[in-house]
Amino acid sequence: MTVSIDPVLDRRFPAFVDIERAAMRRMPKFVRDYIACGMGRGGGVAHNRSALDAVKLVPRYLVDADCVDTSCKLLGQSFAAPFGIAPVGLGGTAWAKATETLAAAARDENIPFGAATFALASLEKLRVMAGSCGWFQLYRPNQAAIEEDILRRAETAGYSTLIVTVDVPAPMRRDHDIRNGFSLPLQFNARTAWQIAQCPAWAWAMLRAGSPTFETLMPYVPSGHTRDQALRFMTDLTANHVTPAMLEDLRKRWNGNLIVKGILDIEDAKRCRDTGADGLILSNHGGRQMEAAPSAIDVLPDIRAALGKDFPLIADGGVRTGTDVCRMIAKGANFVLLGRPFYYAVAAMGAPGATHAVRVLKAELQCAMGQLGCRTVEALPDRLG
Ligand SMILES: Cc1cc2nc3c(=O)[nH]c(=O)nc-3n(C[C@H](O)[C@H](O)[C@H](O)COP(=O)(O)O)c2cc1C
Repeated sequence: MTVSIDPVLDRRFPAFVDIERAAMRRMPKFVRDYIACGMGRGGGVAHNRSALDAVKLVPRYLVDADCVDTSCKLLGQSFAAPFGIAPVGLGGTAWAKATETLAAAARDENIPFGAATFALASLEKLRVMAGSCGWFQLYRPNQAAIEEDILRRAETAGYSTLIVTVDVPAPMRRDHDIRNGFSLPLQFNARTAWQIAQCPAWAWAMLRAGSPTFETLMPYVPSGHTRDQALRFMTDLTANHVTPAMLEDLRKRWNGNLIVKGILDIEDAKRCRDTGADGLILSNHGGRQMEAAPSAIDVLPDIRAALGKDFPLIADGGVRTGTDVCRMIAKGANFVLLGRPFYYAVAAMGAPGATHAVRVLKAELQCAMGQLGCRTVEALPDRLG
């Protein structure tokens, strides 16, 4: 079925490159840097792109594949397409209410939405907005009572899938954020004020939405903490090594689907499977953790071979087009996530950007599958060049 796309938006934003360009103009520099930059000199971000570009897919035309079907099943749930919205902490700085807007669009378009621990909306609110498409992403707290409470809240809110992210074993040092003095609540100095003044639409939207905060974690911050102490508390609480024993323990206490995110190593992957994880997200966190890390697409074939053809593998990092979705799946993924592009879409267009971005990607995917002569998503691995 042809994807219905708003023609006015389509002329201005036919692809993610257009969306990203507009978003960059509309967000203040310190927000732009926070979202776009990678670790160190940005080698991880660049590599995510070049590794995808290197994957060739062979078109096949003499087939009967007029009716392309992008739908797919993951962990027992049917989705309209094999892609979803990755968890992005502080994603709501891209544009006021970007997180809530994307959660609602994911529900309407029937694709998964990752609600981050560090989202600027509570896990409860995001579950309501995303409906059954919501997945909750957890950074494991190092205080048992807090962890227990968050798990209980996630269960009560109705999440059936928990993503536990393991690639933040210690607080991160991101030089661009240090340089920019980026933190929440926003610190106003002459430089940030000047950057904000250059983006009046962003500033106005933020002002109207009210001061954002980490709604999921704020209830645990001891009373009387200053802003800096609260931030330090939340960072120290959540940046820890997740040991195999902790994962086992979590598996016992979480009855829903458990997905481990941030895996790039075969031994880690096997350990997660043996511990009872229902799936993995192969990811280098969008190049934001370890600059020298490989891309998910580099490790996909070996991890697929090690875990067998049926184990659910999700992959992300640098995906920007429908063809990229095909590349990831051809290399062994069942499903693909995108982080930055969806948040850029809301920054570029406001609320309508969320739906537009999903539909553009879906239309591109249909087009690419048609070129590859693949009627279904499952047929994509055959087209690897
Ligand atoms: C600004 C930003 C914040 C992120 N925050 C989180 C987070 O809180 N939890 C998490 O598991 N991953 C987080 N990620 C990683 C994304 O979930 C995802 O792995 C990554 O964005 C994929 O790469 P892409 O942006 O190139 O699509 C973040 C990524 C970005 C860009």
